Amino acid sequence: MRPAFLHPLQAALLALSFLFLSLAQGLSLKSCTTPDQGSTLQVYHVYSQCSPFKPKTPLSWEESVLQMQSKDEARLLFLSSLVAGRSVVPVASGRQITQSPTYIVRVKVGTPAQTLLVAMDTSNDAGWVPCNGCVGCGSTVFESTKSTTFKNVGCGSAQCQQVPGPSCLGSICSFNLTYGGSTIAANLSQDTIRLAADPVPNYTFGCIQKATGSSVPPQGLLGLGRGPLSLLSQTQNLYQSTFSYCLPSFRSLNFSGSLRLGPNSQPKNIKYTQLLRNPRRSSLYYVNLIGIKVGRRVVGIPAEALAFNPTTGAGTVIDSGTVFTRLVQPAYIAVRDEFRRRMGNAVVSSLGGFDTCYTVPVTVPTLTFMFSGMNVTLPQDNFLIHSTAGSITCLAMAEAPTNVNSVLNVIANLQQQNHRILFDVPNSRLGVARETCT
Ligand SMILES: *[C@@H]1O[C@H](CO)[C@@H](O)[C@H](O)[C@H]1NC(C)=O
Ligand SMILES: *[C@@H]1O[C@H](CO)[C@@H](O)[C@H](O)[C@H]1NC(C)=O
Ligand SMILES: *[C@@H]1O[C@H](CO)[C@@H](O)[C@H](O)[C@H]1NC(C)=O
Ligand SMILES: *[C@@H]1O[C@H](CO)[C@@H](O)[C@H](O)[C@H]1NC(C)=O
Ligand SMILES: *[C@@H]1O[C@H](CO)[C@@H](O)[C@H](O)[C@H]1NC(C)=O
Repeated sequence: MRPAFLHPLQAALLALSFLFLSLAQGLSLKSCTTPDQGSTLQVYHVYSQCSPFKPKTPLSWEESVLQMQSKDEARLLFLSSLVAGRSVVPVASGRQITQSPTYIVRVKVGTPAQTLLVAMDTSNDAGWVPCNGCVGCGSTVFESTKSTTFKNVGCGSAQCQQVPGPSCLGSICSFNLTYGGSTIAANLSQDTIRLAADPVPNYTFGCIQKATGSSVPPQGLLGLGRGPLSLLSQTQNLYQSTFSYCLPSFRSLNFSGSLRLGPNSQPKNIKYTQLLRNPRRSSLYYVNLIGIKVGRRVVGIPAEALAFNPTTGAGTVIDSGTVFTRLVQPAYIAVRDEFRRRMGNAVVSSLGGFDTCYTVPVTVPTLTFMFSGMNVTLPQDNFLIHSTAGSITCLAMAEAPTNVNSVLNVIANLQQQNHRILFDVPNSRLGVARETCT
C-alpha cells in the first residue's frame, strides 16, 4: 500500500502511526458494541463508559470510594449469611445503593437473542434475569414470550429439586431467594443462552417475577459458583468447570477486562494455590491464606484468624463482587499496625471505612498475600487508593464487619484487578498471574 515516492522517513512515520492506531484499537478503543469472540466475554466495571448503570453525573473520587464501601457492607453481610447458612438482614445504609456487584458481562438470552448486561458473581451459583411481567424490575427485561426456545420448568423436574425452597405455581416450578438486601421471586425456566460465540441450549435459570430492595443487578446475574444448577455444572462438557477473568481497574473506566470460559487459551505461565471445598457452602471459592507480609516481615496473625473451618465457614474466599478486601479483626489489626509502623511518624487519617490514610506523600512497603504454594506480591494499585488530586492515599482494606459473627476473610476485586485469576475446579486450584486487562 506504500505510495511509490514516499520518503523513507515518511514511510517510517506512516508505519509508526499505523502501529499506534492498531495498538490503541487493540488496547483501549474497543467500542462498547464490539462483539464478544470465541469463548471470551468482555468484562466492564459498572461505572465504565460501556455500562448503562454508570452514575448519571460522574461521581467524585471520594463519592465513588464511599459508594463502593457501602455496597461492600451489604455484600459482606450477604456473604456472611451464606457462610452462616441463615439470612442476615443488612443494616439500612444512608444512601440508596442500586448497583451490585461490580462487574458486568454481555449475555444473549433466547431465540432470537435478547442482549442483557448481567452482573458476574463468583460467590453465587444461580443465573437469573428479570422477565416480562416482573414487578419491581427495571425497564430492560427478557421478553420470554418472544423467544421460541423458552420454557418454564415443571414442578416435577429434577432441576426443581435443586433450587432453594421450591414451590409450585400451577405446574410451574418457582422459588424465592434473598440476594444482598433484596428478595426475589422467580420461575425456574430454560432457554438457550449465548456466551460470546457459544450457545448453551436449555440453560436453567430464574426468570424473575418479583423483586424488592435495591441489591438486584438490574439486568440479571451470571453466577459463576460451582454448586448444583450453576453455569459451571450445566456446561460441564463445554467448559469443564474452568474459567478465568481479568478485572479492569475502576480507575481506567474506558478499559474492559475479559471472562474466558473453558480450558482453552488459559495462561500456562501462572502460579497456583489450592482451592478448598466447603461441602456446606458449595458455591464459595475458599483458598488457603496462610499469612500476610508487609515489606519482608511476615505479620503475626493468630492462626485461627486465617484457618479454614468448613463447619463454621471460617477461612478466606476469593470473591469478584466485593471491592475492598476484608480481614477478620485480629488479622486486619496486625496488618494495619505493621503497615503504619513502616510509615514511621506520618499522621494517619481516615476516609469512610478506611482507617489508614495519609495526606502527605508517603513511601509504602510492599504487601504480599501468602497462600499455600503461592505468594502474591501486590502492585501498589491493588492495595492503595489515591485521590485524583493525589492529596490522600489509603490502605484499601478494612476489617470484616463486626456487627455479625464474622469469620470470613474476603479477597476482593480491587486486590484482583489487572491480574488473571484462573479457576481450575477439576484440579482444585486457583491460578494468579499479573496481566494488564484491556
Ligand atoms: C411465571 O409463572 C407464573 C405462574 O405459573 C405464570 O403466570 C407466569 O406467566 C410465569 N412467567 C413467565 C415469564 O413465564
Ligand atoms: C415467594 O414470594 C412470593 C411473592 O413475594 C410470595 O407470594 C410467596 O408466598 C413466596 N413463596 C414462598 C414459598 O415463600
Ligand atoms: C432442549 O430441550 C428440548 C425440549 O425439551 C429438547 O427437545 C432438546 O433436545 C434439548 N436440547 C439439548 C441440547 O439438550
Ligand atoms: C473515555 O472515553 C470517553 C469517550 O470515548 C472520553 O470522552 C474520555 O475522555 C475517556 N476517558 C479516559 C480517562 O480516557
Ligand atoms: C512465601 O514467602 C515466605 C516468606 O518470605 C517464604 O518462606 C515462602 O517460601 C514463600 N512461598 C513460596 C511458595 O514462594
